[in-house]
Parts: sequence; structure tokens; C-alpha cells
Amino acid sequence: MIRMKTRGGVPAARSWDIEVRGLTKTFGTVEAVADLGFTVAPGTVTAFLGPNGSGKTTTMRMLLGLVTPTSGHATIGGLRYAELPRPAATVGAVLDTSGFHPDHTARDHLGVYARLGGFAPSRVREVMDLVGVTPFAGRRTRALSTGMRRRLHLATALLGDPRVLLLDEPGNGLDPEGIAWLRRFLRELAAEGRTILVSSHVLSEVEQMAEHAVMIRGGRLVAAGAVTDLYGEAAVRVRSPQAGPLTAALLAAHPGAVRVETVEPDTLRVHGLSTAAIAAEATARGVPLHEITPERPTLEHAFLQLTGNNQGDTR
Ligand SMILES: Nc1ncnc2c1ncn2[C@@H]1O[C@H](COP(=O)(O)OP(=O)(O)OP(=O)(O)O)[C@@H](O)[C@H]1O
Ligand SMILES: [Mg+2]
Repeated sequence: MIRMKTRGGVPAARSWDIEVRGLTKTFGTVEAVADLGFTVAPGTVTAFLGPNGSGKTTTMRMLLGLVTPTSGHATIGGLRYAELPRPAATVGAVLDTSGFHPDHTARDHLGVYARLGGFAPSRVREVMDLVGVTPFAGRRTRALSTGMRRRLHLATALLGDPRVLLLDEPGNGLDPEGIAWLRRFLRELAAEGRTILVSSHVLSEVEQMAEHAVMIRGGRLVAAGAVTDLYGEAAVRVRSPQAGPLTAALLAAHPGAVRVETVEPDTLRVHGLSTAAIAAEATARGVPLHEITPERPTLEHAFLQLTGNNQGDTR
């Protein structure tokens, strides 16, 4: 449990949902975000997923009032960022990861931001402890590693004990241990009732972190909901030198119940049948199998199925 001080001044009754409705932003001829709509509820981590250039950062910048929407709206607790009573204490954000004075120590940096935000000086030590910055508190920011910088940015965003966290690609550059730490940390913050939106273009990175996901592509919504609902159906990977005849046999034996994707000439992905049922059919037809592996459904696969494209963003 990560204990933080509760703050006075913010109406307790307000639900700190993030709401995006009909949100559109065009830069010249580029439609960065197009009629986007989704809601992010408090209490869970929500992943904001999309390939490079799909409009994630632009959407987050609009939520923070840094970019003016061409149309539509983006609100936090029903209010635009500029209308929030104490925006810096309500919303913590890490959008771009430059912005450290190279000669400041990590502690100096947090001190400056605590003063700017009007937060108690004691918060500096608290957030350093929370994110594990304390061991390098006296190091100049120019000498910090990528992982340390990530933690320092997160500490900065947490100074105001915010109800809402917007993190743009927080996993970028972190090693597996760093990612695992981030997952645990954000889940705990969400369990305290915070609203947390975490963008990523690496789906596997947020897979075990987020309970909800908003998937976008080309600035438009592709899917939104509980991660468990967004996962593609489980499939079985089958490799056989007689993939064609096996496909025909499976489809004939289980009409309507089975779907077969040809991944490579000798490799199939079979949906709707167990490994046992596939193996039985292959044995009955005398088809040799070189591999038969149940595939765990992944968000990556679900995303590619939903967008029907595995070539990355084309823009
Ligand atoms: N200030 C701007 N001026 C012109 N075009 C912009 C501007 N900001 C973003 N864009 C364009 O809008 C589109 C969406 O960009 P955005 O940075 O929001 O995507 P993203 O999903 O955050 O991508 P990435 O994963 O690479 O960070 C891109 O085509 C980008 O080039
Ligand atoms: Mg971005």
C-alpha cells in the first residue's frame, strides 16, 4: 500500500473520470485525432494503446490544455484542465521526458517543482521514497540513467498527490526489472482510487499492468473496454508439411466452429479447437504434425486482428 496524504480543498464527491467526446485535432492537413471518444474510470490502470503517430500524445496534450481541440472536448472530473480548481494538485502528468536542469540534483529538481506547485517541502522526501529516488537524491540530473530519469519524472508528477495520472509511454527505455516495478507501482496507485491513463505503443509492456484499454489507430478509436474482453480468442499454432490438407480436414470436420489462419505455407493458427481435437483429426487423416502449441492470447494479437494490419502505422 502506498500511503499518501489526503488533500483538503477538492470536492470529495467528484468522480475523477477522464472523458473524451468527439475529440478532433487537425494540424494543417494532418488529422492527428479524429472524433475520438472514451472514458477512463478511477480505480484501475487504463492503457492507451496505438502505433507511432496514432494520436496518443496529442490526445494527452489536449487533456492537459496544452493543445486546443479543433472540435469536441476532453475533461477530467467533468471539467476542462483550465477549469480545475487546483490543476497541478489534481492531475499529475509525464509527457515529455526532457526538462531537467542538468546541474540540479534530483532533490533540487523536486524542490523547485514543489515550490512552483505550492506543495509542502516535505513532499520532496515522500515522493523520493515512493519511487525509489532517494539513493541518488544528490546526483546531478545530467548524470542520471534513463531508468532514474523515469523515476524522477514520476516523482515530479506525484508531488501534488494527484487523483489523476497521465503518463505518456512511461515504460520507454526501462529494463524488464524497471517495467515490473512500474507495473506494481501503478497498480497500487490505481487501487487507492486514482484514475491512471498510461500510453504505450508496446502492447506487451502494459499487458499485465492495465485492466482496461483504449486502442486507437490513425487518431480514431479501434476498441475500448476490459483487457480480458479485448484479448483475441485463444488459438493453436500448428506446423505441418501438409498444412493445406489439414486445413481442409479441420474445416470439413467442424463446419462453422473452426477458423484457420495460414501464417506461413506450413504454419496455421487454428481458432475454435483444442490441441487434442486438432491432433485427433491429423492422426485420423495421417497428416504429420511438426509442432502443435496452444497460444496464449495477447493484446498485440487482438490489436492486429482489430486493425487488420501488421505492418505498423502507415502514416
Ligand atoms: N504540433 C504538431 N504539428 C503538426 N503535426 C503534429 C503535431 N503534433 C503531432 N502531429 C502529428 O499528429 C499525428 C499524431 O501524433 P502523436 O504525437 O499524437 O502520436 P503518438 O501516438 O503519440 O505517436 P508516438 O507513439 O510516436 O509517440 C502524427 O501524424 C504527428 O506527426
Ligand atoms: Mg507520443
